[in-house]
Amino acid sequence: MRVFVCLFLVSVLGCSLAEGKVVSKCDLKKEFNNLPESEWPEGHTMTDNFLAKLICHVEKASEFNTSAVNQLIPKKKEEEEAEQWTLYGLFQLSDHLICSDGATPSPDRICNVTCSALVDDHIEDDISCVLNIARKVIDGGFAVERKREFWRMVKLIFQPDCNNETAGNYFAECKD
Ligand SMILES: *[C@@H]1O[C@H](CO)[C@@H](O)[C@H](O)[C@H]1NC(C)=O
Ligand SMILES: *[C@@H]1O[C@H](CO)[C@@H](O)[C@H](O)[C@H]1NC(C)=O
Ligand SMILES: *[C@@H]1O[C@H](CO)[C@@H](O)[C@H](O)[C@H]1NC(C)=O
Repeated sequence: MRVFVCLFLVSVLGCSLAEGKVVSKCDLKKEFNNLPESEWPEGHTMTDNFLAKLICHVEKASEFNTSAVNQLIPKKKEEEEAEQWTLYGLFQLSDHLICSDGATPSPDRICNVTCSALVDDHIEDDISCVLNIARKVIDGGFAVERKREFWRMVKLIFQPDCNNETAGNYFAECKD
């Protein structure tokens, strides 16, 4: 049955037959280290300490499971409608501002990708989406209202316990 559903969904949602996989901390670090410099926002390189914070977030948010899906109900102010965000994949990227929950990517999202594409075991699109977010952080390419919303989203999703993580500590077990 699942195979049948997936055959149907594959054209619509990019459904993957793969169950997803669990990646290791050190392999994920390697994926980032192997990215060509041109992938990075201009004039920036990923520092090992930033990478430690980012991968620490992955560990706490998805436990390195590429198919993790979770719900988040952000606290709201009185006058706002109740919201529920869904967080997808290794980096727990949100259907709020980041990926599109419909069948086709939407141009108003930071990443030109459907959320369902973020839960398969191909992590290249997840990584390039994270790089898009990093670019937004760096060049702030947002109108004021969305900028505020963007930072709220980043704050709610990113794990605060990881703020003090350093490469020396976090990657001590990794050989390179
Ligand atoms: C990964 O997450 C998926 C979706 O929640 C779950 O079905 C699967 O069992 C998880 N895999 C592991 C190894 O925890
Ligand atoms: C968005 O993704 C679609 C499908 O992968 C692609 O055809 C399109 O060119 C992309 N658009 C942008 C602006 O990158
Ligand atoms: C991070 O470090 C700061 C300053 O050293 C400290 O005040 C804060 O409690 C630490 N936060 C966490 C989550 O460990």
